[in-house]
Amino acid sequence: MTLSPELYNSRFLRATRCEPTDTTPIWIMRQAGRYLPEYMQVRSQVQFIELCKRPELAAEVTITARERLGVDAAILFADLLPILEPMGLDLEYQKGEGPVIHNPLSTPSEIDRFRELEDPGELGYVYEAVRLIRRDLPADIPLIGFAGAPFTLASYAIEGGGSRNYVATKSWMFRDPSAWHALMQRLSVSLVRYLKAQIAAGCQAVQIFDSWAGCLSPADYREFVLPHTKAVIDGVKDEVPVINFLTGNPALLPLQREAGGHVIGLDWRVDLKEGWATVGHDVGVQGNLDPVSLYADLPTLRKRAKAVLDAAEGRPGHIFNLGHGVMPDMDPQNVIALVDMVHEMGQR
Ligand code: CP3
Repeated sequence: MTLSPELYNSRFLRATRCEPTDTTPIWIMRQAGRYLPEYMQVRSQVQFIELCKRPELAAEVTITARERLGVDAAILFADLLPILEPMGLDLEYQKGEGPVIHNPLSTPSEIDRFRELEDPGELGYVYEAVRLIRRDLPADIPLIGFAGAPFTLASYAIEGGGSRNYVATKSWMFRDPSAWHALMQRLSVSLVRYLKAQIAAGCQAVQIFDSWAGCLSPADYREFVLPHTKAVIDGVKDEVPVINFLTGNPALLPLQREAGGHVIGLDWRVDLKEGWATVGHDVGVQGNLDPVSLYADLPTLRKRAKAVLDAAEGRPGHIFNLGHGVMPDMDPQNVIALVDMVHEMGQR
């Protein structure tokens, strides 16, 4: 991708290359979500899935959130799961229940119903949103695209929704490794096509969300997941910086690093200094304030944000974020205050 000098030298993209910045860049996972009145206003008129599929609305909520918070990057408004529709699954977002798949791949024998994404154009509404967002974002603000990692998507495809213990997913994996690898390969091939189309439409970086892979032991992550996540990252890493994000299991950090990424996303369960030492200072890190810190009073929030900055020791390559997404009932003023604090305290 050819980048304008403004984008190339933006705080966020410099940090993905571990280059020094004037202050620490910050963005917030789920920054365009339900805690924002502007989002709820748009959302009161359309269902969530419709919002994802209407590029002009998706672009509006992306841009409004970026402006309102003053963060250093925008993230595309979309969702992890719609890619599963053209692959053969019937997806619905139910009020108060979260996503539901009506025809999950409950057993390995059902794998034949699960097709590769042959034509990434079936998700054309996503790339159209990317084009509109890129057109209207300030020239020095990068746009982050994203996708789910193969494991996290497989868990929805198999469980049919969220899960506590991933019993169906892991049983598949343990009982029929060859069907499991076939499933993961269909996902990884599809994800590379999808991400490349996002990049071609105008994303300057991508984040891979392996939100639920923390339920695995290191040995199982290595055998059943790592090669597939690595295939996705390898497929796009020469085009744009990749953020490899996983939650819930710091014991997986060395393997997460092995799977790849210019930046490793850390949740709050690991001390940032230790986590960075574990993955190596030749990659960047993103994180890792506990999202619940935003419920504290502002002086406490400031102390907690400072602790994260201190753990990064002013090293180039730190992108400030929460360890996971912002909660839906958060007061936007606290999020704005956090962004200002990080920009102020992160100055070199
Ligand atoms: O970060 C951003 O602002 C970009 C947009 C984004 C959304 N979801 C919007 C959304 C991103 C990056 C996601 C990722 C996502 N989606 C994940 C990974 C999550 C993570 O934080 O690690 C997962 C597991 C999904 C699937 C999904 N989508 C779930 C489980 C839910 C229900 C969540 C809930 O608490 O109800 C969604 C819906 C969703 N995705 C909403 C938003 C703003 C809320 C939708 C609404 O009701 O308006």
